[in-house]
Amino acid sequence: MCSLRTVLLELCISKKFQAKADDILIATYPKAGTTWMIEIMDSIRQGGITKEITTIPSHELSFCFGVSSGVDLLKDMPSPRLVKTHLPFQLVPQSFWDKGCKVIYVARNAKDILVSYFFFHKITPILPHAGTWDDFFESFLSGNVVWGSWFDHVTGWWDVREKHQILYVFYEDILQDPMREVERVARFLGHTLDNGTIQEIVKHTSFNMMKDNPMTNFSRMPTCIVDVRISPFMRKGQVGDWKNHFTVAQNQRFEEEYRRRMAKTSLRFRTEL
Ligand code: A3P
Repeated sequence: MCSLRTVLLELCISKKFQAKADDILIATYPKAGTTWMIEIMDSIRQGGITKEITTIPSHELSFCFGVSSGVDLLKDMPSPRLVKTHLPFQLVPQSFWDKGCKVIYVARNAKDILVSYFFFHKITPILPHAGTWDDFFESFLSGNVVWGSWFDHVTGWWDVREKHQILYVFYEDILQDPMREVERVARFLGHTLDNGTIQEIVKHTSFNMMKDNPMTNFSRMPTCIVDVRISPFMRKGQVGDWKNHFTVAQNQRFEEEYRRRMAKTSLRFRTEL
């Protein structure tokens, strides 16, 4: 049996993948709070903070060593399987939709993603070199980064949220009212949890707890994959950190591009709380 808690489903392997009806997919643009939501979802389906939650890393090492693909690992994983992906909606294997799987999409405002993604490049040697902050800022706005355009990603998933079993969750909402959002995720996944258990999950998945928890803070990752000695994976965990990095001119440029790219969508983000 596979002792992994999640498996990353990526493009190169996703074509072979066959979903099961009780698979649960967590989909995000990178740095939107994937690790956070995995910890929340896994705690919910375990009915609280179990030994498995506290002793098995939330992130899998499958793609690091090239030993086995995510698809092979998923075959051995007990159901219900928790699968994570950064794929845009159009590239998710069709069998997920054919089987009616539940999907949780976590979205985070682009300004904070941009900053978080920049720092993530510094600690992740397998990603392309980010260049300077100014370089990365432009690359992100043009969608010329790994996983492509944030604009296309968030709006693509938003547009189909009512056609499938998709719960669209905002990072900013979880930070503002974690009790409400954990309860909402639990309800969507078909779990009824008492208040005490929800409180326990909220405490266990708070930023400060996850920052110090080796099962969630990536300190167990080989440094050739993620090197948290350079900068922590659990970096700030805030809404509005972009203000410490954007210049006035960059903010103006960002706002113009944002207005242009988001003109036709009803999707709204908060960049401060
Ligand atoms: P920052 O770099 O802004 O701190 P992902 O898991 O998708 O890669 O997202 C990582 C981002 O989510 C990081 O953002 C990280 O600090 C933040 N994060 C992770 N767990 C969190 C938590 N419990 N509360 C708030 N933010 C969290």
